Amino acid sequence: MSTLFDEIQKTRPPKVSEVTGSATGKVLAGIDQLLVVLPTRVPAAAWNRVPQGKKVQALMRRRTPGSVPAVKTRLSNKRQTAVYVGNVDGAAEAFETLTFARKMVSAVTGEKAGIVGILVVGFDDARQEALTSQLVSAVLAAAYVMPAFKSKPTPARIRSVRVLGLGRQVGFGRELAEAEGNNVTRFLTALPANKLDAKAYTTLLKEMADAEGWQYKKYGVNELEKLGAGAFLAVAQGNADDSAAFVRLRYRPDAKNATPDLSLVGKGIIFDTGGTNLKPFTSMLDMHIDMGGSAVVAGTLLALSRLKHDAAIDAWFAITENRTGPTAYKSQDVITALNGKTIQTIHTDAEGRMALADTLAMACEAGPKAIVDYATLTGACINAVTTRYSGVFTNRPDLHPVLKKCGRESGERVWPFPIGDDFIEEIKSDTADLAQCAPSAGGDHILAASFLNEFVDKKIPWVHVDLSACSRKGGLAHVPSQLTGFGVRFSLQLIIDKDLAGGIDNG
Ligand code: BES
Ligand code: MN
Ligand code: ZN
Repeated sequence: MSTLFDEIQKTRPPKVSEVTGSATGKVLAGIDQLLVVLPTRVPAAAWNRVPQGKKVQALMRRRTPGSVPAVKTRLSNKRQTAVYVGNVDGAAEAFETLTFARKMVSAVTGEKAGIVGILVVGFDDARQEALTSQLVSAVLAAAYVMPAFKSKPTPARIRSVRVLGLGRQVGFGRELAEAEGNNVTRFLTALPANKLDAKAYTTLLKEMADAEGWQYKKYGVNELEKLGAGAFLAVAQGNADDSAAFVRLRYRPDAKNATPDLSLVGKGIIFDTGGTNLKPFTSMLDMHIDMGGSAVVAGTLLALSRLKHDAAIDAWFAITENRTGPTAYKSQDVITALNGKTIQTIHTDAEGRMALADTLAMACEAGPKAIVDYATLTGACINAVTTRYSGVFTNRPDLHPVLKKCGRESGERVWPFPIGDDFIEEIKSDTADLAQCAPSAGGDHILAASFLNEFVDKKIPWVHVDLSACSRKGGLAHVPSQLTGFGVRFSLQLIIDKDLAGGIDNG
């Protein structure tokens, strides 16, 4: 029997090799499937660089407008290299070009793939590199075979990636780290709740920590009781056992005990039945994905660690089920959170904000320079932005343009919403400092984020991501699977490119 830790090794992306300069017949003979990307208007000179350029040009005239790929053909070499040609507007936004890349790659995965080649021609150097990078990301995303427990394992589809025609060696370290992080997020999120239960999850995180050189600390139920994490424990009290826990991982590039530059916090609800206020069948069906926020934390930490990112990072996982039963929490229960605030329970299905309230308060105690949390927190956020975007919320509204920009540039798009005292009026309580949620009010994603804000130290810039785009039929941007792993790519943009923890804050 293979363990989850064995399985997670399969999230490693395939190799990416590079052959710079023109794509000779000899180079092409080593490729099983070649993806060729051209601009919408192909400069005449570019056809010389397309294998069988004349033939492709002729076929291109007969394409159905808008089809991706536009042309499919084969080279007459021994391998019968399949060639897929597509046109894209190089100036389009990342989301659009990544979506194009996913469609190009899905042609490849339609047949038994082996060595996949990428050739982008007809653009200026910067565009060529950017598009190539996106194609690489799409091939790596498609190469990951989502976990399944069939008696006959699914064969791997893509063996390796070969980039052709660039003017220089690029390395693609970022794409590889990002792909691995995204794969880990998708792997964890996809696992059924009986495979990834709380015990298996904490064990797996310990094994990952040992392998990656991260520090691992588990706060079990007894310890959390002593710490007064009443909000999290209210949710956990419905469990059949005491396996619920906070896990804290520490990535330290240099000084072992440095205070964190950044803390990542994730909702890790193993399965969300709704609790005493039980969900109906269709709403409950997929609720093993309710640990998706914590899976983004794991994937992001792994990617940053692979890239040897130069910041001390704490990663927090709030792990429990949300179950019904004689010991489960109920409406009107009054509980005391870790930061001393009292909460009147309203609806047991609003368990995520309870679990995160204490986790955020704990994360704040270490005094990080910034916090980002991720959660499949509300259906309201999906109603607001659909599953194409995720919602973002922050105690530093000056960050809104930066957050949107990170979404636009990464292709994992986010949209900001307001939070704050104004909204707290909706969750005033007669019996406690705060009500958990409003019995009936619109904008629950905003109320939930405003609730969380009450547990975050005001001195610390904080971003909350409500992961509406965690699951989308047909995939999203470059990712072809329903579970998108949304969040890792956005986070790397925010943490590395915008240096979230290093002084982005101006509020
Ligand atoms: N995990 C759910 C939110 C969710 C629903 C995420 C569907 C992804 C897909 C969350 O715990 C929840 O149940 N929220 C409730 C809150 C309400 C009771 C105030 C919701 O959105 O209905
Ligand atoms: Mn719920
Ligand atoms: Zn939930």
